[in-house]
Amino acid sequence: MDKFVITGGTALRGEIPVSGSKNSALPALAAALLTSEPVILKRIPRVRDIRTMQRLLVDIGSRTEVEEETVRLHTPQIVCPEAPYELVKTMRASSLVLGPLVARCGRARVSLPGGCAIGARPINLHIFGLEQLGAHIHQAHGYIEAEAPNGLRGAVVHFDRITVTGTEDLMMAAVLAQGETVLRNAAREPEVANLAELLGKMGARIEGAGTSTIRIQGVEKLTGAEHTIIADRIEAGTFLIAGAITGGDLSITGCNPEHMSALVAKLQQAGVEVTQPDSTSLRVRGNSELRSVDMTTEEYPGFATDLQAQYMALMTQAQGIAIIVETIFENRFMHAQELARMGANIRLDGKQAIVAGPRELTGAGVIASDLRASASLVLAALVARGETVIDRVYHIDRGYEKIESKLARAGAKIRRVE
Ligand code: EPZ
Repeated sequence: MDKFVITGGTALRGEIPVSGSKNSALPALAAALLTSEPVILKRIPRVRDIRTMQRLLVDIGSRTEVEEETVRLHTPQIVCPEAPYELVKTMRASSLVLGPLVARCGRARVSLPGGCAIGARPINLHIFGLEQLGAHIHQAHGYIEAEAPNGLRGAVVHFDRITVTGTEDLMMAAVLAQGETVLRNAAREPEVANLAELLGKMGARIEGAGTSTIRIQGVEKLTGAEHTIIADRIEAGTFLIAGAITGGDLSITGCNPEHMSALVAKLQQAGVEVTQPDSTSLRVRGNSELRSVDMTTEEYPGFATDLQAQYMALMTQAQGIAIIVETIFENRFMHAQELARMGANIRLDGKQAIVAGPRELTGAGVIASDLRASASLVLAALVARGETVIDRVYHIDRGYEKIESKLARAGAKIRRVE
């Protein structure tokens, strides 16, 4: 298993380009199942979760061609409407094929995702929504069996809780349903709006994506399309924090600053200088007088839970006490113990983490538990005295494209040990 070996103490300088968004690419790839015509997706990040989704789509019946960051998918027919446990257990976003399969061929067999390091993460809201659209769903042997032999029909779906992939899954189900569907309390994440843009290019009729009420008029069939995925705001945010925590001067290019306003506001409150040289880049200049600032994770446009771990690493270096509240996932503080192994002062109390700083971090052997936790350990290692060895970096490869070479480009002393 690969490890990262990082020697801390270098202020990062220069430019780091951002890749396309993993969480936008995954539903876009699944959306290709909705049509028998080719779909061409650009700026697809080359990360492990994308390869997993591509493997799943091939098993379902898609032909895929990959050239650099462009993926061409063609699904003349659905051969096997199934997402097997072997794949779903490695990537719960596989459940994003549920809606498209039921909509396209009237049935689907999708493994339940099971537990996850950061929380229970059930898909009951996906199922509830599909049942509102008239699908018959039963569960057996760890699988969801969904059927709609006469097709889906539009309905009003009110989500009890905001769910990103739940909104995306139902949007993809509703585009081929008879009549109108209204999704209420829908997720407003930019990835949802980017998916709606793709579906619109395929001939879908969607209004209100990006707001909490989305209206979808079902159509007979969808066409092929060509579409570019948005920048990865979580990857960009991770690098912004890398610049801040090392006291460096870093420009993050190819990003969308509008999607990152909650993070930028927090960094500025903490005394970090963040400027926007142009519409697709942000410049961060770290400051030794980092101040502790409380933060609560929220659904978009609030502070992203996928940046909570990275922000915690930053607050270990700030003057004062920062209270971090995680409201989205019930078990997303696994990185705190590993940061404490490096010398951080963090006390956990239910949904809260109380971070006292600044504390000097020293290099140590640590273990990554999930994708974003591993990113926070990389950030901590960049400021730690001495060498840190991060185990299980396969977690980070799921969602970051060549992170070690991007960071090394900006001066980081980081290498991968196979
Ligand atoms: C998406 O996951 C992202 N993944 C996650 O990013 C991200 O953390 C999350 O949204 C929140 O922003 C992708 O887009 C592929 P949710 P998703 O449904 O859709 C509960 C990363 O690091 N819930 O919005 O699975 C759920 O348990 C990943 O890139 C139900 O109870 O998250 C959670 O507590 C990690 N029932 C909350 O809602 C449901 O049916 C929000 O989850 C669905 C969700």
